[in-house]
Amino acid sequence: MARLIIVSNRLPVSLHIKDDGSFLLTQNVGGLATAIGPYHKSHSDCLWVGWSGIEKEGLDEGQLAAITKEFKSRRCVPIHLTRDEVDGYYGGFSNDTLWPLFHDFSHEAKFSPETWKMYQRVNEIFCDVISKSVRPGDMVWIQDYHLMLLPALLRSRFPDLRIGWFLHIPFPSTEIFRSLPQGADLLRGLLGADLLGFHTVDFCNNFLASVKLLLGLDTDDDGRVALADGRHVTVDAFPIGIDYNLYKRTSHSRLAQGMRHGIEAASGKRTRRIISSLSAESRAAVEAEQKEGSWWSHRSDEELSELSLLRPVVSSNPKPNKIVVSVDRLDYTKGLPERIKSFGRMLEKYPEWVGHVTYYLLATPSRENVESYRLLKKQVDQLVGEVNGKYSLLSWTPIHYITRSLPIKPVCGIYTAGDVALVTPLRDGMNLVAKEYLSCHDGRDGSLVLSDMCGAARELTDAFIVNPYDIEAVCDALHSALEIDSAEAIHRNRRMQARLEYSTASLWCGQFISALRQASTDGLSSG
Ligand code: G6P
Repeated sequence: MARLIIVSNRLPVSLHIKDDGSFLLTQNVGGLATAIGPYHKSHSDCLWVGWSGIEKEGLDEGQLAAITKEFKSRRCVPIHLTRDEVDGYYGGFSNDTLWPLFHDFSHEAKFSPETWKMYQRVNEIFCDVISKSVRPGDMVWIQDYHLMLLPALLRSRFPDLRIGWFLHIPFPSTEIFRSLPQGADLLRGLLGADLLGFHTVDFCNNFLASVKLLLGLDTDDDGRVALADGRHVTVDAFPIGIDYNLYKRTSHSRLAQGMRHGIEAASGKRTRRIISSLSAESRAAVEAEQKEGSWWSHRSDEELSELSLLRPVVSSNPKPNKIVVSVDRLDYTKGLPERIKSFGRMLEKYPEWVGHVTYYLLATPSRENVESYRLLKKQVDQLVGEVNGKYSLLSWTPIHYITRSLPIKPVCGIYTAGDVALVTPLRDGMNLVAKEYLSCHDGRDGSLVLSDMCGAARELTDAFIVNPYDIEAVCDALHSALEIDSAEAIHRNRRMQARLEYSTASLWCGQFISALRQASTDGLSSG
């Protein structure tokens, strides 16, 4: 069986240098590490090549060798880069040019010859390092937009190597792609591969249209790109899945259930006991005043603080309290400002929810060296402040805003507590959060409001599908998702869950690897 070398910008483990100079390796939990990690672990000859995550400056040859050795204990081959290389290749061309452009955010894209040079250089460094490990018969599987030149670089050194590449983000339309000055170079870089994978058929078609427009290359009857040297490159869709059982299991863990109960208590879902401690008279009095609308305006401070504390349970409004959740990297593609506005609009349009729905918004800071991310953080902070300032009651805050990175168990706790998940990216290759939420609601109700602009929407068609830019539509879908009958929600979820339980991350990994095996045997044209 051919040996597999996986290549990605980030390795599945991170190395930390402790104060005493010793090393600590920790497992990463991103979608990629979860999807390919089990294959890497279970195949004792499989290597994983990627950036070490540590700047080279200040480290001597001995220290670099020790770091390399530490990674090798996990069958990982680290690439050591300088600060300038990381800034140019990762922060610059990958995240300040390709990322915005590929997500249809052309106005955010920066075009700089310097970062392009660094991108080329780092792709070459990857090629040099991989070349030292390649053996006859190996297969190389390259991941994502950071390494689009690598397939052709490797092909020029190893004509018979089997090379696959998968894009974890969208591939844009030709109208957008053609604005990239280095577009043709990138396409030529990719066509060094035998198999190119995308999340959806639409992204495959976008890619093929750009190949036609910029390189004048056509596809054959099987949809493969025919090259002048007689090779054929297969292009296909491989929608990535998740480890369904991992999320399902974790949602039942004590920690996740504890989080769920904590969130439910904090949002007033679990405070019914307090009702019984109120006399019928005071309940009636509070209810009557609440109906008038300004029940708090003529209360003494003592009364006010006591009554406002009881707000969720003494309301005359029969609505049960509900919880909305979302989990994202703080990234402008995720549509956080639009989503917060939609939530605020819902409180305005459907005021019966005021005091009765709490939004847990987990937004983990990301790529903080890139300016657009720092600006976004400010904007989100401000919008959350505005909604909270406008609608908060003394004992209720509409949005619980958490900007930390949380491990999988508490994240599953948040998913599990959510009556509704609001997943509204403006553009996304797949979006695994939507899938993770559903697996944490296995056999239960809980509604998904999902953007039409992500790969997951092609699969999760029983969700409340919305245009994330349409504040009014998201507001109405959120209201409907909160109101949905539990049996109907369970019914919708069951169909989507059945699909997710089958189309797992490991199925995706296995399918790509067998397609790569197949593509490279088919790749040479017989005429
Ligand atoms: C996306 C990309 C991944 C990347 C991840 C996190 O999902 O497709 O390649 O690893 O974002 O971004 P970061 O820049 O922190 O690696």
